[in-house]
Amino acid sequence: MDLTLKIWRQKGPEVKGKMVTYKVNDISEHMSFLEMMDVLNEQLINEGDEPVAFDHDCREGICGMCSLYINGEAHGPDRGITTCQLHMRKFNDGDTIYIEPFRAKAFPVIKDLVVDRTAFERIQQAGGFISVNTSGNTQDANAILIPKAAADEAMDAATCIGCGACVATCKNSSAMLFVGAKVSQYALLPQGRVEAADRVTKMVAQMDHEGFGNCTNTGACEIECPKEISLVNIARMNREFIKASLKG
Ligand code: SF4
Ligand code: FES
Repeated sequence: MDLTLKIWRQKGPEVKGKMVTYKVNDISEHMSFLEMMDVLNEQLINEGDEPVAFDHDCREGICGMCSLYINGEAHGPDRGITTCQLHMRKFNDGDTIYIEPFRAKAFPVIKDLVVDRTAFERIQQAGGFISVNTSGNTQDANAILIPKAAADEAMDAATCIGCGACVATCKNSSAMLFVGAKVSQYALLPQGRVEAADRVTKMVAQMDHEGFGNCTNTGACEIECPKEISLVNIARMNREFIKASLKG
């Protein structure tokens, strides 16, 4: 198929960006979206132009690096998948496709389609872990029995890959689906309860410090999330936060 691409180009964080139009031809419907971007970049390099910078790593929906806003939707028109799992069969010959970076104050553009998502790492570092003795006297994990339902819910929360689509989609640029998932994956398990109050207090404080907005229950984040993380995790984080605040 032949396509017209309107792509956000921006040389650096302080430089003004703009949409630039490109044409790509003979794109196979079996290609992934990122493979189509590779074709464009090869074309640009052959023409002596600078290739379009975009983030990617695993290309199989695991790392959360690919972060494109495609035709006004984070990770494009499909549901429950990342940009790297999106296939060109979702588009038609002659289509015009708009490709932009994830936009949020807390995710500044580094170059073209690449944004700085280290704010998520700082939130994780604030409390997204459990403190265990790894000196060699570690307790056998199976010594603590965990109800299957709790383990399943914790696993669902833990599937968050930190891509940032929730933030990019939210009209408030809220990171509460991401932080809710990270708080929940520990809060649901006995190993995570020990530091639960401290964790939620510190992670929420860091989230606010990074400049993310608040949740107003629109639910767009849940729809666009490639891992279908449930809004229930935001409600659980709020309960954990209130409990921690009452504890002082
Ligand atoms: S909650 Fe979903 S959209 Fe948000 S960072 Fe995690 S995987 Fe990405
Ligand atoms: S490149 Fe890793 S999730 Fe898309």
